[in-house]
Amino acid sequence: LSSTEIDISAIQPGQSIKTSWRKQPVFVRNLVPAEIAEANKVPLSELRDPETLAERTKVGKENWLITLGVCTHLGCVPLGAAEGEPRGDFGGYFCPCHGSHYDTAARIRKGPAPKNLVVPPYDFTSDTVVTIG
Ligand code: FES
Repeated sequence: LSSTEIDISAIQPGQSIKTSWRKQPVFVRNLVPAEIAEANKVPLSELRDPETLAERTKVGKENWLITLGVCTHLGCVPLGAAEGEPRGDFGGYFCPCHGSHYDTAARIRKGPAPKNLVVPPYDFTSDTVVTIG
């Protein structure tokens, strides 16, 4: 009832898609190695809401970044999940409402948002299917 299955097989490296779960936008992003490296090289002491990329993804599937598409400031939908949208100063997502910048692990890096984009509960049902919820 409250879970959603997503076929991720068509999401190319570097691409994101926007889907939804419980009426909330969800971003599914296939990170490229440079984006993973970028996220991993940031010292936790520099983060407002310190979490590693590994803590925000599944073991062996570090390239799949799945988050709610809801800015933790006042709830706008950030840009960066669709082709051609700006991804902000840190290459992740950008919330244009008041200028929050998220990095390639969808962690808040600049602007008023207090927290990282939320990772919803999910599991890989197979290599190409994710169940959220
Ligand atoms: Fe995103 Fe304010 S709602 S920056």
